[in-house]
Amino acid sequence: MPLLDKKSPLDDLNKMHDDLGLQYFESQRFWRNRAPFFNFKINRYFHLLRTRRLPFPAPKKYSQAPRFALALQPELLQVPFSTLLATRRTRRESRPGSRLDFSRFSTWISCGSGSQHLFANQTVEARRLSERITRTTAAPGGIYATELYFINFSLEEIPKGLFHFDPIRGEAELIREDASRELARSLLPGDQPISALENAAGLVIATCVFERLRAKYGTRYLRFACLEAGTAYQSLDFAACALDLMFYPQGSLYEKEVCDTLGIDGLSEGIMWGALVGP
Ligand SMILES: Cc1cc2nc3c(=O)[nH]c(=O)nc-3n(C[C@H](O)[C@H](O)[C@H](O)COP(=O)(O)O)c2cc1C
Repeated sequence: MPLLDKKSPLDDLNKMHDDLGLQYFESQRFWRNRAPFFNFKINRYFHLLRTRRLPFPAPKKYSQAPRFALALQPELLQVPFSTLLATRRTRRESRPGSRLDFSRFSTWISCGSGSQHLFANQTVEARRLSERITRTTAAPGGIYATELYFINFSLEEIPKGLFHFDPIRGEAELIREDASRELARSLLPGDQPISALENAAGLVIATCVFERLRAKYGTRYLRFACLEAGTAYQSLDFAACALDLMFYPQGSLYEKEVCDTLGIDGLSEGIMWGALVGP
C-alpha cells in the first residue's frame, strides 16, 4: 500500500514514497494521534533535567585539543539590515589575490554560532555571572544541537588543519593537523568547487548532534535539526554578504568521507551542510 496519496504523475514514474525522508513527513501527518504522547515526553524531559538525571545539553568539547581564541570585530558588521536583504547574493568565487584575515573570519563564524556576550565585548566570566547563555542564532528549545567545523587551508594566524568551534568561549579547537586543501578537494565532487577551492580559505561543515534534540522532541527531531542548521546557515549567509566573503554551499559533499574526516558516525551526529568560505 503506498504511503502517499497519488497526487503527482511522478509517483507513477518512481517510488518516491519508499524514500525514508518522505516516510518521515508522512508519519507527521498523523501527529494529532501522537500529540498527547509528545506532550508527555516533553514534560518528562523537563522533569529529568530538573532532577539532574539528564545533563543539560552542552556543546561538544575537545578538552585535549590546542585552543585558539577567535578575534571578533563586531564593528565590521555595520551594514543596515535592509541593505543586506536588498543586496545579498551567493558568491561562488573568491577574489583572487586577496586574503581572508582571522578577524573577519572570526567575526563571520561567530555569527553562525557564537555567544552574544562575546559580541558585547564581555568575557566568558561575565557570561558565567548571567543566568542564561544567549547565542547569535536561534535553536529549538535553546538546545543548540548544531556544531561547526572548519578545515583551514589558508588562514595564517592559526595552524592549517581541522578545527571545531566552541561557541560559548569563542575558541577554535584544533582537532586534526593533517587536514588540508587536498583533503577538502577529495570531499567535493565536480569541477566548479575545485576552481573555487583554489582561492578559498577553508571548508566549513555544520553537523547536528541528533540525540540532543531526540531526547526532547522524539521523532520530530529531524525537522528541528534541519531548521536549526538553517538558522546557522542564514546568519552566515547574511554575515558573508556584510563582510563581502565567498560563501559557497556544497550540496554534493561526499557524506561518508566527511564523516570519517570529522570522526563522527553520521547517525548520532550527522552532516547538515558544508560550504567553502573565502575572501
Ligand atoms: C541549503 C542551501 C543549499 C545550497 N546548495 C548549493 C549547492 O550545492 N551548490 C550551489 O552552487 N549553490 C547552492 N546553494 C545556493 C543557491 O543555489 C542560491 O542561494 C540560489 O540560487 C539563490 O541565489 P542567491 O543566493 O544568489 O540569491 C544553496 C543554498 C542553500 C540555501
